[in-house]
Amino acid sequence: MNKRDFKSLIDINTQEFKRIIQQAIEYKELDKKHSIPRTYVNRTLAMIFKKNSTRTRVSFETAMYKLGGHAIFLSESSTQLNRGEDISDTARVLSGMVDLIMMRTNTHEEIKTLAENSSVPVINGLCNLFHPCQLLADMQTIVETKGDDFSKLTVAWIGDGNNMCNSYINASKLLNFRLKISVPNGYEPDKYTLDKFGENVELCEIPGSAVDGADVVTTDVWASMGDEHENEERKKVFKSFQVNMNLMSKATKNAIFLHCLPAHRGEEIDDTIIDSSYSVVWQQAHNRLYSSMALIDFLLSSSKN
Ligand code: CP
Ligand code: NVA
Repeated sequence: MNKRDFKSLIDINTQEFKRIIQQAIEYKELDKKHSIPRTYVNRTLAMIFKKNSTRTRVSFETAMYKLGGHAIFLSESSTQLNRGEDISDTARVLSGMVDLIMMRTNTHEEIKTLAENSSVPVINGLCNLFHPCQLLADMQTIVETKGDDFSKLTVAWIGDGNNMCNSYINASKLLNFRLKISVPNGYEPDKYTLDKFGENVELCEIPGSAVDGADVVTTDVWASMGDEHENEERKKVFKSFQVNMNLMSKATKNAIFLHCLPAHRGEEIDDTIIDSSYSVVWQQAHNRLYSSMALIDFLLSSSKN
């Protein structure tokens, strides 16, 4: 099979990225009329979760259902992965039974091993390095609120240089928007990603400089899944990186605030922002459904037997 994977955003090109966003917007319109086409009857998605999830699980499961197919949720503890079966063996077995595999796991290496050994498309549902599915919904939300001319757009990333930040760097290169990043010393994004894809990135020492003139301000938890043991230390280090009204007031007048969620209110954001008129986080979260549908459609229609 000539299959396409979605291990990170760099598995797709600019045109494909824009096509997926437009398709997501179309699915959203069709859903309002309850007329999503059941294009993928009898198709199955296996979803392996080694980390918790609300949005990713529900969006992909619902997306498959609405497209006429079916999704199988596999928690790590319920599979033989938990008893030592190799990812590569799991990939060979699952890809003989299902049409797509999604995995949320700890390392990008595991995603790559899964993809190398799977004969069907593999989706990265989040790993230590990237969270590409979330960026599809974020970019859809930006198009819906700010239009599709990314070249005029400045995005500010505030907080941890984590998997979301790395995916924003990839998106800034593919869609050609300016990305201003402000993170504490020692919490910088992935060096390889920055060196290779960071041509539109500006690193700012002070959060206020990054937000100054930004059209979109976004952040994420200070301690990602797997970093919880550093929670208390991080609360001290990241204290001045909270997105609050004072910081947000430096953005453009019609700026929007995005957060992939889950949010830790009182830490990386305060209530005045997440519940303010700047915030489009619920629209962003709901767009996970439509961008998941568009991704499934893209991968199944562009992978040929
Ligand atoms: N944003 C996101 O991926 O949410 P979940 O962890 O709930 O899937
Ligand atoms: N950076 C966060 C994103 C959660 C959707 C994490 O990895 O936990």
